[in-house]
Amino acid sequence: MAVVTRVTRFMCLGAFVTSMFFSISASAETDVEEAKRLYRDHCRVCHETGSEHGKYTPVSYIQIQWERFFDKKYKRKHKKVLDEHHGGQPVMDVIDSETLEKIRKFTIDHAADTDQPMTCG
Ligand code: HEC
Repeated sequence: MAVVTRVTRFMCLGAFVTSMFFSISASAETDVEEAKRLYRDHCRVCHETGSEHGKYTPVSYIQIQWERFFDKKYKRKHKKVLDEHHGGQPVMDVIDSETLEKIRKFTIDHAADTDQPMTCG
């Protein structure tokens, strides 16, 4: 009897671990999906079609322009901007450096002069 119980327990644990694994892998975002979500959440909110701040998506610039933008302009253009979509916090505080790096890579990887230009729907 004890053996049966132990076997049953073991099988249940196995099924549980397997289901956990599948639910995690099924819901996991790819890096591109994550970057796209971050772009939408942190950039597109202010730069969609008709925005008073200008419409910008990855295809708005070629790669070198995005590099220059992030190196030279991003800070200057956004340091005084408050993000009303994130509790009125300054844009520079809302977007941490890790997030910004992912967004930077996403725009450069999908710029107008790449094989996979993206408008970020
Ligand atoms: C809270 C609103 C807001 C958010 C969020 C925001 N921006 Fe901006 N963005 C602005 C404003 C305001 C300007 C300045 C427009 C101007 O100079 O007239 C600007 C300017 C720009 C410009 C134009 C720079 C130039 O050459 O004049 C680009 C490109 C840009 N933002 C990209 C981004 C990207 C990429 C993100 C996300 C990492 C982002 N913005 C997040 C409001 C925002």
